[in-house]
This record gives sequence, C-alpha cells and structure tokens, in this order.
Amino acid sequence: MSVLVLHAHPNTPPSRVNAALAEAAKSVPGVTVHDLYEAYPHFFVDVRREQARVEAHDTLVFQHPMYWYSAPPLLKQWWDTVLEEGWAYGRDASATVGKTWTHALTTAGSAQAYSHRIDAADEPTGRANLFPLDDYVKPWLQSARLCGMRWLAPFTVHEAEKLDDAGLAAACDRYRAFLAALARRPGA
Ligand SMILES: Cc1cc2nc3c(=O)[nH]c(=O)nc-3n(C[C@H](O)[C@H](O)[C@H](O)COP(=O)(O)O)c2cc1C
Repeated sequence: MSVLVLHAHPNTPPSRVNAALAEAAKSVPGVTVHDLYEAYPHFFVDVRREQARVEAHDTLVFQHPMYWYSAPPLLKQWWDTVLEEGWAYGRDASATVGKTWTHALTTAGSAQAYSHRIDAADEPTGRANLFPLDDYVKPWLQSARLCGMRWLAPFTVHEAEKLDDAGLAAACDRYRAFLAALARRPGA
C-alpha cells in the first residue's frame, strides 16, 4: 500500500510549479503520480478504474493550484463521480475508511495572506483574503470525514508565481520529503 498523488492542472495557463512538483513526486519510492487532465481531457472519468486505484492506496494527495479559492474543475468532477454513495459514503460503504486525504496546494497568495482572519470592514483594498487557508479547505476536510478518511493538513507552496529556479527546487525538495514521510508511515 502506498501514496497516490492525483495531479490536477488544466494547463491553461501552462503549469510551471505543479509540473515540477509532479515530476519531483515521481522520484519518491512508494508514490504513484496520476495526471488527471492527461487521463481525462474530456472529463469522462473512468469511475471503476479510479475506484480500483484508490483501493490500492492508503493515502490520497490531491495536488493542484488554488483556483478561485478552490480546485480546478476536473478534480470536482473526479470527487463527484468517483466517491459514490455505497462505495465511499452511506450505508455499508467502507472502501475509503481509514485512508488519509490531503492536498498539495500552490497559491499565488503569500503565506501571510492565508494566515489570518480579517474583518471586511477593516480591509481597505477590498481584495485581500478575509480568511486563513484552514477556512478555504473546510469542504475537503468535511468530505474526507464523510468518507471515513483521516484528514491531514495540506502541503503548501505559496507565492508560486514568484518562485525563482532555486525557490522552485527548494519547494520540490520539500514536497519529496513530505511524500517520503507519508510513504514511510505504517499503513500509508
Ligand atoms: C483561474 C485561476 C484562478 C486562480 N485563483 C487563485 C486563488 O483563488 N488564490 C490564489 O492564491 N491564487 C490563485 N490563482 C493563482 C494560481 O494558484 C497560481 O498561478 C498557481 O498556483 C501556480 O502554479 P502553476 O505554475 O502550477 O500553475 C489562480 C490562477 C488562475 C489561472
């Protein structure tokens, strides 16, 4: 049993950071990288195949850029179709129980911009994030719980658009270490 990275990036605009992170992940023993936009460019997700893939792993890492404080649309389609009632949740559903759900998230916003709550009345630009990252990920945390899965706080790369080559290499190193630690866990 091992770690499944479900990589979702539409490539419009083209990915720099997620592409590098996905390449880095491929070198980590015990980690399988599955490129969802490559597999399903027309959004026809092969539900049985994806469920079999999930059953063969104990940890799911949804790797994607933050898009409109959420995930790219194919990932939503994957959740909507693969996490079926009777398989992932509902009466007698047990396929995902005890597995781990986490994300590898890249954002344009800084760590500081995703670190605290601001009252809208105190926010002069009208554009700053009002909430910390923990608030934006709540629908995913709750979905993990409904599926009987353990939630793990996301791996993050902030200010992704500003990373120079050294910064990107450091982010890849950090990601490899994050995944290697997941793969080493008993029953990972
Ligand atoms: C459609 C779209 C929506 C985005 N929404 C957000 C957002 O809500 N929050 C944020 O911090 N960055 C946002 N960004 C910036 C991306 O997260 C950032 O460009 C990406 O993480 C960089 O990784 P990449 O090189 O793999 O594309 C958005 C970018 C696009 C294209």
